[in-house]
Amino acid sequence: MEDILNYSLADFQYNDNPDVLAPPEEFETWINDPRINYCFSFFEQQLLRTPKTTTEILSNLDHKKRKVINLTSYNYLGLCSHPEVIQAAHEALDQYGLGASGAPLLSGTFDLHVKFSKMLADFKQKEDCLLFSSGLSGNLGAIQGILRKGDIFILDEKCHKSLVDGGTLSGAKMLFFEHNNIESLNRMLEKSKGRRTLVAVEGVYSMDGDLVKLKEIVEACDQYRAAIYIDEAHSTLMFGAHGRGVAEHFGLEHKMGVTFGTFSKSFGGVGGFICTNAKLTRYLKCYSSPYHFSCAPSPVIVAGLIKALEVATRDSTLRDKLWENVNYLKKNLSDLKLDLGNTESHVIPIIIGSSGEKLFQMATEIQKRGLFLQPVDFPAVPAQSRRFRISVSSQLTKAEMDEACNIIEDVVVKGLKM
Ligand SMILES: Cc1ncc(COP(=O)(O)O)c(C=O)c1O
Repeated sequence: MEDILNYSLADFQYNDNPDVLAPPEEFETWINDPRINYCFSFFEQQLLRTPKTTTEILSNLDHKKRKVINLTSYNYLGLCSHPEVIQAAHEALDQYGLGASGAPLLSGTFDLHVKFSKMLADFKQKEDCLLFSSGLSGNLGAIQGILRKGDIFILDEKCHKSLVDGGTLSGAKMLFFEHNNIESLNRMLEKSKGRRTLVAVEGVYSMDGDLVKLKEIVEACDQYRAAIYIDEAHSTLMFGAHGRGVAEHFGLEHKMGVTFGTFSKSFGGVGGFICTNAKLTRYLKCYSSPYHFSCAPSPVIVAGLIKALEVATRDSTLRDKLWENVNYLKKNLSDLKLDLGNTESHVIPIIIGSSGEKLFQMATEIQKRGLFLQPVDFPAVPAQSRRFRISVSSQLTKAEMDEACNIIEDVVVKGLKM
């Protein structure tokens, strides 16, 4: 390997190592290089406390404990450690024990799962709901269960890997359209004429924070009788007058064939769900492998999630606070003349350009100054637009946001001028 730094994770998927239990040899050379090793040390940082807006990490960079302002967590509404959520989970642990101890079909499903599914279906205004033990397995299992060989699965090119993997498993033909580009979508729909077709989009795109162009997408899909699957991982509980998501925000919920959400973000827990019509839900219970052949989510988590849904929807306090914070931070960052891309949400990228070296230098300084703000490198984002990515929380105080902006000004704004 001539120049180690020219390689990325995009290069080592293929593996021809004769030992099937060994990674590609070049991957080993690459990942063990101290410069690459250093970049990786930013990932899987050890959290020593709940991911609140000020938390503590055991830094992988220098193995020091560090108090940090947290702009990296998906705990958007602070529900992960909300006292009522914690209490509900404690009570469920005493009553039900730790796990669901088997797949729901044979080993049973707790009353909590039934109650929560009904709550979610009502919330999302669909007939029924299926719970999964992770968001990833929810997307993967729904797509694998709905689509068959001969079907067409059209995805926005920025859709999450779980949707892509679900498509691969299903055997359907996959077509990708350019991000939020309706002409490109129309071209794919034209190619799919006469075939069973499902189009997947996300409410908020997770690396850029922009919204799906839902009105135009619905119009195109209606014309070709294609069904829509919307992943509202980053929008449920935050968008729409009632927090039901981006489809509610645009007044188009009735046009969504399937709506997906995850519990690992605004809900503050873990797991995933889809809401759709009752007949499809019944069918997927039998044909979606991550539901049919996998243990149901822990009752402890489900009890906490029921409470999280109640807390987040009993009024708009948390949502209002979130948007207040988003506006405050965006204004301050825009005043610093930073490139925030096309964000329209609580996900705010700070795009710094093509230099990976600069990105990781800044990331080091940022962390040492007490800000937990992670670098996002190629291939997760295009090589020309490496970035930091802020996840805003409703729990951030003005003092925390001001301090974060000071650090960003000192490190990123100054670094970009050098
Ligand atoms: C858009 C999107 N969908 C699905 C998932 C998977 O969710 P989970 O992490 O809860 O498994 C993610 C995770 O980041 C996501 O961003």
